[in-house]
Amino acid sequence: MSFDVLAPHYRWMEFVLAGKKLQHGRTAFLGRVAEAKKVLILGEGNGRFLQECRRKLPDAKITVVDASARMLSLAHRRLIGQRINCERIEFIHADALTWMPPEGDYDLIVTHFFLDCFRGDQLEPLIAKLAHAAAPRADWLLADFQTAESGLCRHRSRLILWGMYRFFRVVTRLPASELISPDGFLQQHGFRLRECEAYDWGLLRSDWWQREN
Ligand SMILES: C[S@@+](CC[C@H](N)C(=O)[O-])C[C@H]1O[C@@H](n2cnc3c(N)ncnc32)[C@H](O)[C@@H]1O
Repeated sequence: MSFDVLAPHYRWMEFVLAGKKLQHGRTAFLGRVAEAKKVLILGEGNGRFLQECRRKLPDAKITVVDASARMLSLAHRRLIGQRINCERIEFIHADALTWMPPEGDYDLIVTHFFLDCFRGDQLEPLIAKLAHAAAPRADWLLADFQTAESGLCRHRSRLILWGMYRFFRVVTRLPASELISPDGFLQQHGFRLRECEAYDWGLLRSDWWQREN
């Protein structure tokens, strides 16, 4: 699996296909986690969330893990281009499935349009590992696609997801072929949904989860 081929096209494709919707989902609850000091961002892609995160949390130490060297490079260049200080940002080129984070360290985990890349048998241990790396009262921001609840919206979302998975499997060799909800796995590790927003006729979700003591 690699997003390297897609990386140079990711921004214009997002603009054409989704306008500002994905960025809205990425940043919807950023204001709720303004106290975070140690942030772990998985599968950040080309840095659109990272730039806003850095602005909102100027003193936080941010670790960005992505399996695509080209995505990481785009994210880094985006910040440099905007004269954003990268000193307290660590870019790690690694497969999140095998990368070992330090235990109990991060007070904010971010997975935007990332967990949908994995099969259920990968998602469960991945979320367990990230939950282990999260501080006892950590926050978790998550934006992603979802299947809308009912009616025409449900048909629409299923059709779009079907097409998307076919496309990503061919272009990036994505392991997943269908969307698996991460909610049950997050709950298993003590996270509770604090706030959420569904939009674009139920196709998109933006969530703020928090672990209770
Ligand atoms: C669909 S893109 C989402 C990018 C961005 N977060 C966004 O909001 O648009 C998925 C990102 O996750 C990365 N990724 C996919 N599988 C990964 C893995 N196993 N380990 C680390 N990064 C991965 C890809 O390289 C890509 O940057």
